[in-house]
Formats: sequence, C-alpha cells, structure tokens
Amino acid sequence: MAVLAVNGGKLAVDKKLIQKWPPVGQAQYDAVREVLDSGVFWGPTEKQVELLQEEARDYLGVKYSIVVNSGTAALHACHMGVGTQPGDEVICTAFSFWASCQGVVAQNAIPVFVDVDPNTFNIDPTKIEAKITDRTTAIVPVHTHGTPCDMDAINAIAKKYNLKVIEDAAQSFGATYKGKKGVWGDMAAISLNGTKNLPGGEGGIVLTDNEEYYQHARMGSMFGEKHLKKGEYRLYDALQMGFNYRSTELNDALCRSYLHMYDEMQEQRLKNVAYLHEHLSGLKGIKPLIPPEWAGSTYHLYKVLWQPEELGVKDISVQRFKWAAERALCAEGCDCYTWHIMPIPGERIFQSKNAAFGGIPWSLSTTSEHSRNIVYDPYDYPVAMDMFDRSMILRCIYYPNTVELMEQLVEAIKKVLANVDELVEYAKTIEFPRMPWEKRIL
Ligand SMILES: Cc1ncc(COP(=O)(O)O)c(C=O)c1O
Repeated sequence: MAVLAVNGGKLAVDKKLIQKWPPVGQAQYDAVREVLDSGVFWGPTEKQVELLQEEARDYLGVKYSIVVNSGTAALHACHMGVGTQPGDEVICTAFSFWASCQGVVAQNAIPVFVDVDPNTFNIDPTKIEAKITDRTTAIVPVHTHGTPCDMDAINAIAKKYNLKVIEDAAQSFGATYKGKKGVWGDMAAISLNGTKNLPGGEGGIVLTDNEEYYQHARMGSMFGEKHLKKGEYRLYDALQMGFNYRSTELNDALCRSYLHMYDEMQEQRLKNVAYLHEHLSGLKGIKPLIPPEWAGSTYHLYKVLWQPEELGVKDISVQRFKWAAERALCAEGCDCYTWHIMPIPGERIFQSKNAAFGGIPWSLSTTSEHSRNIVYDPYDYPVAMDMFDRSMILRCIYYPNTVELMEQLVEAIKKVLANVDELVEYAKTIEFPRMPWEKRIL
C-alpha cells in the first residue's frame, strides 16, 4: 500500500495544477488601469461604484443596491436600514463567522443563537420559535458556503412574529432559492472580499427591494447624510447616525471585471463540484455536504465530513481523526482547511458577555433582564458542535481549476482512507486546536 505523504510518501496531487484565487487576467489589469488613468479613485456617485451597483442589481433582479467597503459594513448597514435598536434580540445562527452578528452588537442589540440544520449547516428553522421573545425583532439567516437557507420556513416565522429578515449573503452572490436569485428576506448583505466568488479585494453590497430600508442603510453608510445625485450640492447635514462605508473606484472596477466573467467562473466551479459530489458520495469514511434540491448553491466552499465510525476507528476521537485526516490530505498536496472551529457563542466575546467596556451591550439599561441573563453555552448547539468535530473544506474547486485537479483530489482522499491504520497512528501524535472551554476528552 502507498505510504502517506505525512510519513514521507509520494504526493497524490500535482500541486502545479492548483491555480491561485482570484484569477488575474488582462480584464483585471484593464479595469484597474482605467481607474488609474481617470485619476478618480473614490466618490459616492462616481462611475465604477454606480456601474457596480447597477450591474449587481440587474444580475440579481433586485431594486436597490449600495456598494460599501466590506460585507461586515453591508450587514451593519442592513441593521441601520431596518432599524435594529439597543436591547432588541436578534436571532442568529450558531455557525458562521461572527461578522454575521457584529451589526447586531454594533447596534447594542443582543444576538440569540440557534443551532444548525444537519442537511445544510444553516440555521435550523424548526429551532427558531423556541428562542423568540417579546424583544425579538429580526432573524439573520446566513447562507453558509453559498447554500441558501430554508427561506420559506424562515419568512413564515418572521411574518408570524413581525420580525425583519436580514440575510447574510456574504458567500452566496448569485445563489438561487427555488430557482430564483435576489433578496428573499427584507435585506441582504454580500461580501466582496478577496476570497469570495465575486471578489473585489474588499467590499460589500447591501441589497433590498424596500425603499425605506434602502434610504436608511444608504445614509448609515454615508455619515448619516441624504444620498445626493452627482452634481448636487452637499450640505454636510447628517439626518441620522452613519459611518463612512464607502468603497473605492479601484475595488469597484476590479469587482466589475469579475462580475463580467462571473457566469463562466461559476460554470467551472459547478463542474468541479459535480465531479466531487459524484466521486466522494458512497466512499466509506467521508461524506460530501450535498445541498437540498431547492438550494442553488454558489459553492463558495466545498465541505466534507469525516466519518471515522464507518471505518471502524474506535481508539481515537472523531476530532483527532479529523485533524489528522485534514493534515494528511494537505500533505498529499490538497488545499484543505477548517473554516471556523467553534460555535459563535463559544467565542470569548460571548463567554465574557463583554463586547465593549463594562459588559456592553448586555449591561445596558436598554437590555432586558432576560437578555442580560442569557447563557452562551457552546454545548447548546450539538449539531454545530458535531459538524466542527468532523468537517473540513476543500478549497480549490474554483475557476480556473479543472476536473483534472478534482480527479487527483479524489485519489488523494481515497489514498488517505485506504491507509486508515497508518492515519490513526499518525493521529495519535498530533496536537490540534482546542477551545478554551472544551470539556470533552479529544
Ligand atoms: C458568512 C460571512 N459573513 C460576513 C462576512 C464578512 O465579510 P467581509 O469580510 O467582507 O467583511 C464574511 C466574510 O468574511 C462571511 O463569510
């Protein structure tokens, strides 16, 4: 049997096949050069920002868009748009990057976490209602890895309790829900950072079909001032709280160059994904995350879950197996990693309930007794915890990587699975990340 690369064996993947993300071609140079030649690098109504807003709106079929300087800013702008207030409780998913709920905390509102659905690892709608109180004002579903949440179920709950729905669509630009692109809740926030399927270096887009929310989010992104048309005189007269969330012409031009080739890039990504789905399904010891029929995922990230139980592995923990398998695969030349390793409520900011000085926002007089006493126990999210224990991301499914590379990734996975005894011995030797609060024997 082949020796694993972690033990000095031959690599299963020809690393020269792996292309960089994002791809840089003539279109990107031309886009950036055009801005440099114009000498106009920023401005709320300049050419590139206006065009990016328009093209994103058209691509997604949405009425209003605001290009800002990050996905985090876009999410915060959404909260300013719908009017999230101090002391409000906002339903958030336990599994995401905590940027998903920074806008909540920035408004001095309280995130209330819900466990995830094992079929998508998005927020589990069946567990939302139990967390709703008379202070709940909004739900923030995150379309993790580009796979839409079960929006009909979420919207039905929102309607029943009169809640706003702010979608964290950071990873899901162009995803479809039941065949439809666009905003499925009240507002949505896209991220354009360099890792994303639609990259702009840094950047974000606020999307909504609601004019009132749009106006407030717009002012919130521009010092609280009324949005002016090009040439209108600026009074510097703030109407509400607002920040400088403006983007730059350079980022926006770069992002547009990718938007113009977005369908082509996504087509290759989906071909790669289809190959992985087909060839990883049915392998003992690993399970690819395959979204439900109704979810047209963008596959920002490709998730697999290790199943050591299926291989008869008994004398080491699932977590130890996972970290060893991930490292063994990386050593074989696969570009893999773990995207987040603990539930958001497990992060120290929530464990200490201290986002700013003096325990803000939990300690504020606007915060209810119930919110003040909220307990953020990571073990309250067993589905998310089990996912962290066994999941891993295969990164290089993106354009212009081809199926030839996917074939090698599958061979590398098969090699690791075929050498399970060697892997288990290796696993016994490794150190891996642990949470400060972890009580289990790993
Ligand atoms: C799910 C999710 N939410 C929010 C963000 C924040 O986006 P940005 O990095 O553009 O601020 C990201 C990206 O990093 C993300 O993946």
